[in-house]
Amino acid sequence: MLAKKDETERIEPMEYYDIFTPGAPPKERRFLVGRKEEIERLETYLLSPGIHPIVVGPRGIGKTSLVQQILDEQDRSVVTAQIEANTVSNFDELARCICDDLGIDVHNVSSTSHEMEETMQAKGKLVVAEGQLQHKEKTTEQMIGLSGKEISPQSLKRLLISSNTNAVISLDELDDLPGESDIPVKLAKLAKSLSNQSKWINQKFVFSGIGRDAHTLFGGHLSSQRNHPVIFLDPLKKNDFMAFFSAAEEELGISIPSPIKNEIIQDADGFPYYMHQVCFHMFLCHSKQSPSAIVTDYHYTEGKNKAFEDAFSHYLRKYKYSVYRLSDLQKSILREIVVPKKRHHNYFELEKKVARINNVSVKEAKKAFRKLMDSEYIQYRKSDDTISLNDALLKPFLRIKLNIRGTGRQASLFDG
Ligand SMILES: Nc1ncnc2c1ncn2[C@@H]1O[C@H](COP(=O)(O)OP(=O)(O)OP(=O)(O)O)[C@@H](O)[C@H]1O
Ligand SMILES: [Mg+2]
Repeated sequence: MLAKKDETERIEPMEYYDIFTPGAPPKERRFLVGRKEEIERLETYLLSPGIHPIVVGPRGIGKTSLVQQILDEQDRSVVTAQIEANTVSNFDELARCICDDLGIDVHNVSSTSHEMEETMQAKGKLVVAEGQLQHKEKTTEQMIGLSGKEISPQSLKRLLISSNTNAVISLDELDDLPGESDIPVKLAKLAKSLSNQSKWINQKFVFSGIGRDAHTLFGGHLSSQRNHPVIFLDPLKKNDFMAFFSAAEEELGISIPSPIKNEIIQDADGFPYYMHQVCFHMFLCHSKQSPSAIVTDYHYTEGKNKAFEDAFSHYLRKYKYSVYRLSDLQKSILREIVVPKKRHHNYFELEKKVARINNVSVKEAKKAFRKLMDSEYIQYRKSDDTISLNDALLKPFLRIKLNIRGTGRQASLFDG
């Protein structure tokens, strides 16, 4: 197990905005619920030579929060770096950021390293190259001097070997790169190379982003996944949310009525982001409205409405403009998709149903389906003719938009 950093003693009590942090990782470990097993797995991987794990899952499920927790838990002697791959324009810039965070000077690196060399002699100089390699074991005093040159995976690996710094480097948002980016292919090369030479490498990488598997982050470029085990984050469970609510209520000294908690849990569909958004705004409204120790249906309804607006300006911003312009027919389709528990719906059955309940032709319904596909609300899976939401995080927020009430709640909640 990794040694834990001392927790600085907190003097001030926490406010609701310290606990409900939509879009930011939980501030304290006790507010990161339901990820015990994943944390243990990550800790083990970080102690295993040559293993550089990958964390994936749907949007807003808690990938960054999990990785952040692991970074926070590192011993003080370990340098941690967090880089969002979508904030740099290419691999060279990414490599420079990594070196910068680790205190490695790329301008004039002088290192003594005992390593399996993969080098090529050219014009009397030792240069880093990726083709026509000759392998030899040697101790070398090398001057890389990469200030003007582009940093390749090979040269970054060398820079890392040259550094004695123990580090954990999180590379996040790997899903969000333009198609022409050289980052996935070069990162895959680096990952393979790092695992091959684990003996000399003091740094660990944790790769993360939206997706189902390594393929979604690296395309087909990661040749072997043996050294890059994947942690897929499942939706949180009811008990996880309950644990969060208990901790929040205790900290704030304010209770949330059970029907409200149950409905938030049910609507959240396993997404902590939904719970954070709704509760943040619910408590904001509560703080303005009343000094009482209980939140009410009014606060909750306000919270939901504001959460909707915020979500479509933030995690779901891609839908920000179109969500206010959905036609009645499109809303009817979405309603059919977000109401039942199942995620996949037979396209042809749904098309007929939507035409029937809206009293329009199947052709017209088809057009509405097409528009929703074009604007990436829904996707069609050809293999089994099913339709599902393109982004599972849309579900809880569309339920607000479509005014779908949770079950087990009194109708009075939204009336009046
Ligand atoms: N295990 C958890 N317990 C409680 N809250 C969590 C947990 N995981 C994430 N959250 C909260 O959920 C929200 C989304 O988390 P986070 O940003 O880590 O998700 P993500 O998967 O990285 O999102 P994205 O796909 O946009 O990168 C944040 O408000 C965060 O505080
Ligand atoms: Mg994230």
